[in-house]
Amino acid sequence: MAYVLLETKGHVGIVTISRPKALNALNADVLNDLSNVFTQVAKDDNIYVVVLTGEGRSFVAGADISAMRDMTAVEGQEFAALANSTFLQIENLAKPVIAAVNGFALGGGCELSMACDMRIASEKALIGQPEVGLGITPGFGGTQRMPRIIGYGKAMELILSTRKVKADEAYAIGLVDKVVPHDQLMDEAMKLAESIAVMPQVAVRQAKLCIRKGMQADINTALAFESEAFGLCFSTEDKHESMSAFLEKREAKNFKNR
Ligand code: CAA
Repeated sequence: MAYVLLETKGHVGIVTISRPKALNALNADVLNDLSNVFTQVAKDDNIYVVVLTGEGRSFVAGADISAMRDMTAVEGQEFAALANSTFLQIENLAKPVIAAVNGFALGGGCELSMACDMRIASEKALIGQPEVGLGITPGFGGTQRMPRIIGYGKAMELILSTRKVKADEAYAIGLVDKVVPHDQLMDEAMKLAESIAVMPQVAVRQAKLCIRKGMQADINTALAFESEAFGLCFSTEDKHESMSAFLEKREAKNFKNR
């Protein structure tokens, strides 16, 4: 893949968007590579958790403005459809995805981070949705995911004014979950990823699925998802081993993820 790299450390897949000369701006080639890498990640049984980051001083500085300038309305819609299907692939991936926001996360970059399950930011992160200033709306999910994450009023303010926020404010408004010194970003993201990777993965994946699906459903439907997932976990060997270990006052043995 020319623009997106995948490496594996233990059970953590590290996905790096690598188009540093354009601050990792997303054009169709980058989006296709990202989609292909996430297809690979989904199939790889050795990967339990994913960390997504950008090479250089940017996470992603947005959709590629040079690619968009001369697009027609139809081409613009097709471009958004490609990005939306790629970001939904991340959102719907059974495995948790952590965005390690290493710098600029603007426009499509902010939107990409919001499609991930958790966000850790470097102190150098600068985050926002500048699209309205370019005469367009956010097109890769920003108008939908941002209010769901930080609430209506704050999302409205940031999208309509295009004001960018630094890491500390992003944390204060819930746009990122943690801020760490720049040189500790990947260590912190890996620590979080590894703390999830040692868990029984059926429970991890069912919990992600419940949260994701439940956020889009009414409470009765959402609780039905949860009951189903809860019941399903009772059929796993890992549940039996974990509960037996607790009752027998011993450490649980290696999980089988089944
Ligand atoms: N598209 C295309 N190229 C981009 C880019 C983008 N979104 N962002 C940066 N680049 C390119 C620059 O054109 C520049 O290329 P050259 O060296 O060939 O001139 C290179 O990356 C480095 O950028 P700068 O020289 O501008 O670096 P800087 O440090 O002075 O500024 C920045 C950094 C503040 C991020 C600035 O580059 C910037 O404002 N970028 C655009 C951010 C933006 O508006 N993003 C939203 C795009 S619209 C969108 O994303 C729509 C959507 O909903 C999906």
